[in-house]
Amino acid sequence: MKIGRLNHIGVATPDIEAAKATWAALYGADKATPVKDFPHLGVKVCFIDTGNTEIELIEPLGEGSPIRKFLENNPKGGQHHVCFEVDDIIAARDAMRDRGATVLGSGEPYIGAHGVPVIFVHPKDTHGVLVELMQKPEGAH
Ligand code: CO
Repeated sequence: MKIGRLNHIGVATPDIEAAKATWAALYGADKATPVKDFPHLGVKVCFIDTGNTEIELIEPLGEGSPIRKFLENNPKGGQHHVCFEVDDIIAARDAMRDRGATVLGSGEPYIGAHGVPVIFVHPKDTHGVLVELMQKPEGAH
């Protein structure tokens, strides 16, 4: 298993509309999706197209949000994870385990905000970087 293209950089924020406006005003990164609620994932998400990748802005939604703790530690928000595409998410999950890494949660891939299966690898395995692996979307380059 070898990771592919960097799909996006995840950024947690307490105020997704403010963050979206900042990326547009400060960097001209104004090609963004509308903010969408994902109640079953506990997040609100917006993707900003930056040409060769995307910034995924994430605001907590609901008490059980998986990014609530991150924002307690980083109240103004911050860079949360990096996401790489893989050809086969099950093979990638199995490879992570074989290589001694910890896949978060049950380890079963679930449908993320992009509509394709994802897993997360514990940051302790990558020197503090939370890594998301995503099944390469159909038709992606
Ligand atoms: Co992500």
